[in-house]
Amino acid sequence: MSYRNLLGIRNLEPSDIATLIQMASSFKERVNRGENTASPTKHVIGLLFFEGSTRTRVSFEQAAHYLGHKVTNFASQGSSMSKGETLKDTIETLRYERLESLVMRHPASGSAHLAARFFGGPIINAGDGQHEHPTQALGDALTISEKKGSLSGLRVAIVGDVLHSRVARSNGWLLSKMGAEVRFVGPRTLLPSNLSLFPGTAHYDLLSGIEGADVIMCLRLQRERMRQGLVGSEGEYRRLYQINSRTIRYAERDCLVMHPGPINRGVELDDIAADGAHSTIRNQIENGIFVRMAAFEWVFGNVPTASSQKSTAKRGKK
Ligand code: NCD
Repeated sequence: MSYRNLLGIRNLEPSDIATLIQMASSFKERVNRGENTASPTKHVIGLLFFEGSTRTRVSFEQAAHYLGHKVTNFASQGSSMSKGETLKDTIETLRYERLESLVMRHPASGSAHLAARFFGGPIINAGDGQHEHPTQALGDALTISEKKGSLSGLRVAIVGDVLHSRVARSNGWLLSKMGAEVRFVGPRTLLPSNLSLFPGTAHYDLLSGIEGADVIMCLRLQRERMRQGLVGSEGEYRRLYQINSRTIRYAERDCLVMHPGPINRGVELDDIAADGAHSTIRNQIENGIFVRMAAFEWVFGNVPTASSQKSTAKRGKK
């Protein structure tokens, strides 16, 4: 079987990203019209979540359901990993159990690449440590495109705990590849020291970082990954970096306020920012289903208009 992996955004071509977003958008229309979206090929897919998840896991399950794939959930607790089996041996075991694709979330950066080496079928990275979360970025891109028409030329401020965020990295790569201006905004302690390797500029002051922004993407303070002392106190963080009705005025009047969830309500954003007219948080959740449908079909090679899209991409590059 010929297949692809979806391990990250960094190694995707802009034409791949455009194809995935187009596929997701078309799945959304078809599901909303109540059409049959069954995949031409049926597969048994393993969902391996070694970290907590609500949105990502459920939307992968929903995506598989709309496509007619079968899902097997794997919980590390209660598996042989609790007896000391390694990740590599676990992945190989699932291969010989004849699972055909794995969706994996794991706390170690690079774990999805390891799985891809030993599985022998498509791996979809559902978040590996602080590294990448490609389907989140694709869903966010679909949401922005729906609201703003296109990604190119937009000013996007990614605000908060960039250091620990795979969402920030995948979104940074995707948005810059698609022609947006990316700004990483946050306290010095929460921006990576090697930010020069990232596709965007660093801003330590919130108001200048979000000035004129078309999109503000808030990030959760990831306390579970934090060493002591990276933020003085939650109160100080709120005072200096919270997106609320006062600070949002520095961005464009019609700016979008995004958040991948889960939210620390009242910390990185207040109720007005989270639930008000600028917020796209609910759209992001819904769109997560359709990008994950696109991801499944893309890794299995079921790209309906591949030839026409390839020629469009080639023409676009000239
Ligand atoms: C994010 C994650 O797990 O990386 N959540 C998500 O997938 N929607 C962000 C986070 O945990 O803060």
